[in-house]
Amino acid sequence: MSSKNLDFGNFAQDVMVGLSSSPKTLPSKYFYDAKGDKLFQKIMDLPEYYLTRKEFEIFEKQFEKILQPILNLGQSFNLVELGAGDGLKTKILLRHLLHKKADFEYFPIDFSGSVLNELKHSISLEFPDLNVTCIEDTYRGSLLRRSWENGKPSLILFLGSNIGNFGLEEAFDILDHLRIGATHGDFVLIGIDLKKNPETILSAYHDSKGITSEFNLNLLERINKELKGDFDLDTFMHWPSYDPVSGECRSHLVSMKEQTVNIKDLDQSFFFEAFEPIFTEISKKYSLLEIEQLGQRGGFKTIQNFTDDTNYFADVLWRRL
Ligand code: AVI
Repeated sequence: MSSKNLDFGNFAQDVMVGLSSSPKTLPSKYFYDAKGDKLFQKIMDLPEYYLTRKEFEIFEKQFEKILQPILNLGQSFNLVELGAGDGLKTKILLRHLLHKKADFEYFPIDFSGSVLNELKHSISLEFPDLNVTCIEDTYRGSLLRRSWENGKPSLILFLGSNIGNFGLEEAFDILDHLRIGATHGDFVLIGIDLKKNPETILSAYHDSKGITSEFNLNLLERINKELKGDFDLDTFMHWPSYDPVSGECRSHLVSMKEQTVNIKDLDQSFFFEAFEPIFTEISKKYSLLEIEQLGQRGGFKTIQNFTDDTNYFADVLWRRL
């Protein structure tokens, strides 16, 4: 995913509010500056980070079944993608749709104009005849505006377990927006990481090369760079934990000593007790049943669950009631 699919607030204000809260928090949407984007690319290649590979496997092995329901409509349609990023998985679908001579238009949505430009370029090289309209917007904004609306049915892709980066209440809010973005009969394909052996999940967020730690600490580096902070990165430790009941993997940065951090642009100092944590990210996992209930609550009927061979990840096809 690229940064920027999320609703951006004001960085300085969010840092001020987050570090003044008890317990301290920083929003994970700020992971993704240029350095964070690169680190996330590295994370996706890590042996422990199975999510991207498993979803790719689902697409490679089951693209025909995934696309059958929208193709069965036998009419022109829209392929809409929330948080398109590099579009690697989606290209598997595009290849098949073009092979089938399907009549459709592709609407990748991303908050980052540069991500969209790169995507448009790479798509024009591989699929020169494909109709592509890029939409630079947030998840919620794009779903409210529905700028792809043309009276045709849509298949909306929301991949990569991006929904997991929202707590349950916020996920409900995203679902409410999805219901607004989709019209009756539209399809949604949502990619979600499944509950599984807690050790497998925890090591995906605690990799042996320390890349996820760097990714998490990049938040503090950003504050240092952009808000003239003086965080000493060596005194904070990346600490993820996984709760198998809620399915929440929660990442923290723990201050390893008592210290005061100054942030010049906020004209503010923040005191840390020894071992005080900053909560930085939630990556929530669901069971298939919970995903079905999530869909029901959002006004969607589950058409089919597509899982990988290990049942680590699911792409679930919903239909808007
Ligand atoms: C983008 N998102 C789905 C990733 C996840 O797994 O929650 C972000 C991530 N954070 C740490 N590693 C990867």
